[in-house]
Amino acid sequence: MPSWPMNQWYVAAYSADIEAGLFARTICGEPLVFYRTAQGEVVALADRCVHRRYPLSLSHLEDDRVICGYHGFTYDQRGQCVAAPGQKRIPRTARVPAFTVVEQDSLVWVWIGDRDRADAELVPRAPWLDAAGYTTVRGMEPLKARYGLLVDNLLDLSHETYLHGGYIGTPEVAETPITTEVDEEANVVYVSRHMDDAECPPFYATSTGIECRITRWQDIEYHPPCLYLLHSRIAPAGVHPPEDGPDDEAFHVEVVYAITPETEHSTHDFWMVARDFALDDQGVSKFLSEQNRTVVLQDVAALDVLERVVESEKDDYQELSINIDTGGLAARRLLKKLVEAGTPEPSPVGST
Ligand code: FES
Repeated sequence: MPSWPMNQWYVAAYSADIEAGLFARTICGEPLVFYRTAQGEVVALADRCVHRRYPLSLSHLEDDRVICGYHGFTYDQRGQCVAAPGQKRIPRTARVPAFTVVEQDSLVWVWIGDRDRADAELVPRAPWLDAAGYTTVRGMEPLKARYGLLVDNLLDLSHETYLHGGYIGTPEVAETPITTEVDEEANVVYVSRHMDDAECPPFYATSTGIECRITRWQDIEYHPPCLYLLHSRIAPAGVHPPEDGPDDEAFHVEVVYAITPETEHSTHDFWMVARDFALDDQGVSKFLSEQNRTVVLQDVAALDVLERVVESEKDDYQELSINIDTGGLAARRLLKKLVEAGTPEPSPVGST
């Protein structure tokens, strides 16, 4: 049984990753090939030719069909083989699995599980990523660690103080208690940390131009398994959001992560930073992009080490959890519930 929930949507790529040609990526243990048709639709097929397993991603795309680069089996958008060398009759079983895709908010989501259960309405939203009024920088870093370690990392931001000091961490992050809530019906974890008088870290000081102490609000929404949203509000200390009406005096940064398992021991760490200020300032974009990538690489280095530690330890190791872990523990619980709910029923004995 995989450690990730089946029958769920996962981010496979950014829209801009899939333009002309074939694009390979393994999602939840499934090697997939993606391409965009002449009509602009994204197609996802299993990246293994049904003939001798040659990766279709190393093949050719012609008229929205993939022609295997080994012996020429040709597949349409549904994965059906429509041509084979040396014979007119195509075996009925000559097809590769096709996967359901939704493109939304500049993200390409793929459904991993039973195709009949894919519901596009359930794809979680991150509308800032391609909305007017926001500018987004983004990247993806490969992680040689299980996806659960990244979930733990992002749900407990107290680590910013220690792992990301000089970038986004200040003493107040670790010092300020969090509140955690769980929406059991919608499967969402909310974690909030509101700092009313905090040092302004370089990440925000340079991008916003604020030179004094700040109010800094971190409001996390985690939609397991894949989408993580950090609503970050920054304003000079003493400036609080109005009871109603727009929060015009604050700078807003929407930090979005997509946490997509590649294998049991590796993860695609998609990161995005959308801001509602300095929209056309290329210098701010470059700064935030470089800063956030540095921060993500600091996490990657730490989690790659942790993966080796976890892999080498005895099964009965007992972690100690404290108040800062309530969000991470809630996320683990929801993930466990989703894994159990998404596991296919065992086939009856004797069935084929
Ligand atoms: Fe693809 Fe032979 S492996 S046609």
